[in-house]
Amino acid sequence: MNQTMSNANVLIVDDERNMCELIETDLRLRGINSRWCLSAADAVEALHQENFDVVLTDVKMPGTTGLQLCRQFTETRPDVPVIVMTAFGTLETAITAMRAGAYDFITKPIEMDLLAITLRRAIEHRQLSEQVRLLNASSDEVGAFGEMIGKSPAMVKLYEQLQRVAQSDAAVLICGESGTGKELVARSIHANSRRSDQPFVAVNCGALSETLLESELFGHVKGAFTDARSERRGLFLEADGGTLLLDEMGEMPMPMQVKLLRTLEERSVRPVGSDKDIPFDVRVLTATNRDLETSVAEGRFREDLFYRINVIGIQLPPLRARGTDTLRLAEHFLKQFARSERKSVDGFAEGVAEKLLAYSWPGNIRELRNVIERAVALTRYDKITIEDLPEKISNFSAGTLFIGGLDPSELVPMEDIERRYINHVLEAVGGNQTQAARILGLDRKTIYRKLKQEG
Ligand SMILES: Nc1ncnc2c1ncn2[C@@H]1O[C@H](COP(=O)(O)OP(=O)(O)OP(=O)(O)O)[C@@H](O)[C@H]1O
Ligand SMILES: [Mg+2]
Repeated sequence: MNQTMSNANVLIVDDERNMCELIETDLRLRGINSRWCLSAADAVEALHQENFDVVLTDVKMPGTTGLQLCRQFTETRPDVPVIVMTAFGTLETAITAMRAGAYDFITKPIEMDLLAITLRRAIEHRQLSEQVRLLNASSDEVGAFGEMIGKSPAMVKLYEQLQRVAQSDAAVLICGESGTGKELVARSIHANSRRSDQPFVAVNCGALSETLLESELFGHVKGAFTDARSERRGLFLEADGGTLLLDEMGEMPMPMQVKLLRTLEERSVRPVGSDKDIPFDVRVLTATNRDLETSVAEGRFREDLFYRINVIGIQLPPLRARGTDTLRLAEHFLKQFARSERKSVDGFAEGVAEKLLAYSWPGNIRELRNVIERAVALTRYDKITIEDLPEKISNFSAGTLFIGGLDPSELVPMEDIERRYINHVLEAVGGNQTQAARILGLDRKTIYRKLKQEG
């Protein structure tokens, strides 16, 4: 057994447990690792969690057709070859599956020697294309993606995910606190995709009224409403061939969600006032700083739309979870602003790094950027000093939230901690109640009530 095969990991998907066990055992004897799932849904989940070199799947399983299954796999993980197993005599199914992106097929009853050969070929294919991808992507920054800065484990993991996502055409939901780089990520996905020479269009779904958003997205015909003096194409068609980012998706009004879902399902738009559907070819990315799953649970966001836009979910870590990336980003912004301000500032004075690392950065990278811009403008030296930082950062110490030691007499009731923490968050976000509410996971009324209760 060669090296390639002994490292390989195969995912078997078949609704018949016997079949799975049979193949697993046989492959084990041949020195090939495998794991099995009884449904497509479980397989998608497994692909999220673990690295597989090849997926071997039955096409006829209850619930999902072979075609859907193949699409789902090849869309979410185009780098993992899929081999389909079809019953003898149903070659048509195999061909359909191949059209849907399967790498190869094998007929049942399975001939184990043949299966091993087929698997080997698929695995070698995958390892080759992986090498090509790495060669193409090789830059001086190890594990970098686009213009993004950061080397923390959280970011390296994100880059790996983004590399895979960029190659696929699946819908991506980008979640993260405000200022974590959602738009930057969306642009980088586009720039690294096969659509990179086509348009990238972004629209803020929270900023427009329902009527305006509809004509903005779908366009309108002349005279569709009072202000429609001329025809408008709409952003779906502007982005044709490229990528459309629907930003602040969590704020989209319900009636608009219905129309968007229809549009995404039918892959065509109907401009306001028109009775014709115009097809488009657009990759749809969405971004939000809300927890959409909660919005779904609370009935503020349509569940069917959520699944449609969340084929792949990307969670951006907050800056406080990125360790010393804060300093890398600070250096980057320092250089940038020193150049644009024509000031000879070239670093940070002693103690500044500690302050930057201790602070909680509720406004994330955008806040850091603003802080450094201000400091570069303010400083009278060739280094940024603690005095050049805003007070909330220079005064910030990690111990602000003292909980108490091990002496029982020092310990305080839960309510007390809660009140202190609410105040702490409010302070950190400069009194912005909406933002504080988001961080705390409470609504504004509750915060107000809790603070009032405690006097
Ligand atoms: N990893 C990064 N490296 C370099 N710059 C970054 C990084 N992440 C974010 N930025 C910069 O931080 C700023 C905020 O990023 P962006 O606008 O993408 O955030 P956002 O998540 O869309 O924020 P919001 O929720 O407020 O819309 C931008 O100037 C962006 O270029
Ligand atoms: Mg944004």
